[in-house]
Amino acid sequence: MDSEINNIKMEFYSLLSKLLSSEAEEERFGKVQSVLFEYLHSFTLNMTKISFKEMVDLKALCFCFPKPPLIYPKTQEEAVELWQSGATISIQALEKRSYFFNEVCKKVAENLVYEVTCSMYISKPDGISFSYHVDEWEGLALQVVGEKVFKIKDDNGNIADYILKPSNWLRISPEDVHLAETNEYSVHLNFALHRKFKLS
Ligand SMILES: [Fe+2]
Repeated sequence: MDSEINNIKMEFYSLLSKLLSSEAEEERFGKVQSVLFEYLHSFTLNMTKISFKEMVDLKALCFCFPKPPLIYPKTQEEAVELWQSGATISIQALEKRSYFFNEVCKKVAENLVYEVTCSMYISKPDGISFSYHVDEWEGLALQVVGEKVFKIKDDNGNIADYILKPSNWLRISPEDVHLAETNEYSVHLNFALHRKFKLS
């Protein structure tokens, strides 16, 4: 069992190392293999069971609206209200909350020499989230539950749609103007390589 989990970790480490590095520029969209996905899926579902109260106390929970800033609720009641309003949940710094993500993110960071973090996004059907924006990091979105549509706009204003179903991943670089739409309940992970935090 342990060796199976170690193999899964190694495989995930290799995949993230490749996809978050500049070597992967040509690769935009793909799918993780089923054994790895099953593990990520059950693991992520366990993390969605953390209570709003615990997440608020840890200051790990915020909500996404079309325009910044992210809203960090101060109480459990406020968190419930924000969720009812349709805003997308973002649970940040999963790498600080689980041995699995901690180990994998740390190893990828050591390999690529930049900080690596992991967040989880949970949206309701037709949930609200960011309008078109760019991120500061190299990102890898990995769909876990439901379907999410990412739209990436090029310099001429043309929009490419990427439909992420469970186990699909999408690379989003700092130059990509993008947004995500949700028609159904959706959970996705986002791994980020922060080039402004170089490790030495
Ligand atoms: Fe983004």
